[in-house]
Amino acid sequence: MALAAMFSALEVVPLTLLTLDAWDFIKLTGTGDTAGSPKKNIPHKWAFYFLMAVGFWNFVGAGIFGFLINMPVVSYFEAGTILTLNHGHAALLGAFGMLAMALLVLGLRHVLKDEQWVLPEKFVKLSFWGLNIGLALMVITNLFPEGILQVWDVLENGYWHARSLEFIGTDRIRMLEWVSMPSHLILIIIGVIPMVIASGLTYLSIRKT
Ligand code: HEM
Repeated sequence: MALAAMFSALEVVPLTLLTLDAWDFIKLTGTGDTAGSPKKNIPHKWAFYFLMAVGFWNFVGAGIFGFLINMPVVSYFEAGTILTLNHGHAALLGAFGMLAMALLVLGLRHVLKDEQWVLPEKFVKLSFWGLNIGLALMVITNLFPEGILQVWDVLENGYWHARSLEFIGTDRIRMLEWVSMPSHLILIIIGVIPMVIASGLTYLSIRKT
């Protein structure tokens, strides 16, 4: 278990290095509006932005939220509560979901010429912000506060109570569930759908050529 835990914790390292590399790349190419460096047209800009998102979510989702629930004294009370969902969403969708998006965008851009990329790029840009803001709002408005309240309830009334309708069905928790609706809508409408459109547009473009 100790060995496995070590590898689990070390998982953060390569993803962090990947992100530092992406940041360096953006700085090197001047696409990040660095003072003094002229703006250049970088074909794979959005793939690199998604890689930077990997680093951000890896730090927040795996680094902060993962370690938060990792210590045995916390884990003993916390396992299986919404705080696990909080970590799972931020780390899995955040780190590996964004990595998948980076690879998808890399592929889309690679098969298109500069002039063909103009329209799909607009949708990719929208999707980047939709996915990241949607996930962030999901964590802030729902998963984290609800997780903390549930773990608090475990400490006060016991695990059985925190997992029962007596806790889940309270007005406070129902309100938090409703509050999370905008985040889900943003994620789907501004995040997922534009990326599907960008993929469709790319497909149509390459068929035409
Ligand atoms: C990108 C890396 C990571 C991903 C994608 C990830 C994903 C997940 C997911 C999906 C779960 C929920 C599993 C389930 O409900 O059965 C989980 C649980 C857990 N993760 Fe991670 N994780 C990552 C990194 C980490 C790190 C770095 C730590 C801490 C060192 C950590 C600590 C935990 C713990 C303690 C649980 C169990 C919580 C429970 O049983 O309630 N994770 N992780």
